[in-house]
Amino acid sequence: MNLRPLTVADETAAIRAHEALASEDFPFLFDFRLGDSFLAYVRRVDAFNDGGPFFTEGGVPGIFLVAECEGEIVGRLSVRYELNAYLREYGGHVGYCVLPGFRRRGHGTEMLAAGLDLLWRRGLDRALLTCDDDNVGSIAVIERAGGSYAKTIPGDQEGGADKRHYLFSRDSSPATLRSLKNPIVSPPGQKA
Ligand SMILES: CC(C)(COP(=O)(O)OP(=O)(O)OC[C@H]1O[C@@H](n2cnc3c(N)ncnc32)[C@H](O)[C@@H]1OP(=O)(O)O)[C@@H](O)C(=O)NCCC(=O)NCCS
Repeated sequence: MNLRPLTVADETAAIRAHEALASEDFPFLFDFRLGDSFLAYVRRVDAFNDGGPFFTEGGVPGIFLVAECEGEIVGRLSVRYELNAYLREYGGHVGYCVLPGFRRRGHGTEMLAAGLDLLWRRGLDRALLTCDDDNVGSIAVIERAGGSYAKTIPGDQEGGADKRHYLFSRDSSPATLRSLKNPIVSPPGQKA
């Protein structure tokens, strides 16, 4: 699996992925509506990855990458380098999704590892992962990767599900993640 920036060549695949995840109420592309210019969107993502202006969940600095396997987009990863009040409760540092046809092949676990790796490389020591209390798949991925359960908080005022909080720390990288090869992340700006 390769993690790389979104490119204009991804238009058809990314929009298909966006539609597929919309039925699960999960945004593949943040703040994107069908009919928006994809070229303009890619430029926005590039600008965000280069340091701003920030547009993904929470409006904080971070990085947005797509996961590719054998030439196909299989998911996406969003890493927040800082937390604001909303992210501290509901979003956490790392968000990822795997397209329905590519699940249960280890991609989710690998993206979690890559997201943590990006945070550690950025100098963070601890990471907060959140997930819906009823998201069986995400709970399994985080717990299997060694996330330490902290608490569950009530859903947001818009009727969201209760959120589980898990913590990872740089010093105690869990065995599952350590055993993964160093995830390949193409540097921002480099178009794979
Ligand atoms: C959650 C999600 C990212 C998991 O991705 P994935 O690529 O299938 O995860 P992995 O293959 O790394 O799974 C690792 C292990 O977690 C467990 N697991 C994963 N999905 C599971 C599910 N739906 N039910 C039960 N266990 C599950 C399994 O033990 C699995 O190992 P196995 O397949 O060898 O049994 C994916 O289902 C998804 O994108 N869901 C929608 C978006 C989402 O919820 N994102 C996370 C937000 S916090």
